[in-house]
Amino acid sequence: MVNYKDLGLVNTRDMFAKAVKGGYAIPAFNFNTMEQMQAIVQAAVETKSPVIMQVSKGARNYANATILRYMAQGAVEYAKELGCANPQIVLHLDHGDSFELCKNCIDMGFSSVMIDGSSLPYDENVALTKKVVDYAHQYDVTVEGELGVLAGVEDEVVAAESHYTKPEEVEDFVSKTGVDSLAISIGTSHGAHKFTPEQCTLVNGVLVPPPLAFDVLAEIEKKLPGFPIVLHGSSSVPQDEVATINQFGGKLEAAIGIPEEQLRQAAKSAVCKINIDSDSRLAMTAAVRKVFAEKPAEFDPRKYLGPARDNMKKMYEHKIINVLGSNDKL
Ligand code: G3H
Ligand code: 13P
Ligand code: ZN
Repeated sequence: MVNYKDLGLVNTRDMFAKAVKGGYAIPAFNFNTMEQMQAIVQAAVETKSPVIMQVSKGARNYANATILRYMAQGAVEYAKELGCANPQIVLHLDHGDSFELCKNCIDMGFSSVMIDGSSLPYDENVALTKKVVDYAHQYDVTVEGELGVLAGVEDEVVAAESHYTKPEEVEDFVSKTGVDSLAISIGTSHGAHKFTPEQCTLVNGVLVPPPLAFDVLAEIEKKLPGFPIVLHGSSSVPQDEVATINQFGGKLEAAIGIPEEQLRQAAKSAVCKINIDSDSRLAMTAAVRKVFAEKPAEFDPRKYLGPARDNMKKMYEHKIINVLGSNDKL
């Protein structure tokens, strides 16, 4: 049993309380590789932002759970080395789908876990979430639950269409489970293929995706004043990265992500954690493709993973400063 506090990590409790009060959101960036981890830490340190580094089940399978845990521990030390005296870094399990997986992460030093029971019948979601909370809270690990279903792919949880969170369920869910934060569905969706041009409306020559359901968010906030709310599926699918990928041999379909203006609006509300993964994948792929196309003789991985790391760092900093507003909070 490793306690996250001994690794220099923190849970989400104080972080979220300050974010809700201060009208900003904490970035939750997924990581699978050393370059992503380095870029996240560099961006967080340079902008003086707290940060959540999250690990999906897929990331555990790809990179090995133990390695990722040591990378998070390394992230704390790296942040200090970069000059941050008191880094606020959370190691979070993204989309945990069983009690055993959550327990395993808690036992190996995660400071926060998500139990995603959103695909289960309501009562089963409550029971599973409560079981995870009861275990996690013994070690002061914070827990994120989910109500409502996002469109797209959530690891193995596949939903053909989104089902908004029902505001009338949230109070009961939070009080019965004791969760520390709640992921909701108000129209965001996972992946880099949201939204197709057909799903958008043409306004003054610009494709505008269906707006987020801010009325549902407002209802939820009314039922749970000041309670930390989480938005998954919040990548904006930067059009310049998509263009670079396609210019250098990629074949990405046209897609319009979540407009940053809407995320800015959400960050000012009780939404205090915003999940971004796909934008990092796009930034990485664009940089790698550019090097491969412009320098076909290059075969030193540092020469393409280095630019990929720099491009991800630029994207993370942009999100922190211009979208979530979590800069200068350390
Ligand atoms: O919500 C899903 C995350 O983007 C993680 O994706 O399961 O492919 O690692 P992944
Ligand atoms: P995106 O695919 O929009 O980046 O969402 C990531 C996410 O929600 C991780 O849990
Ligand atoms: Zn998610």
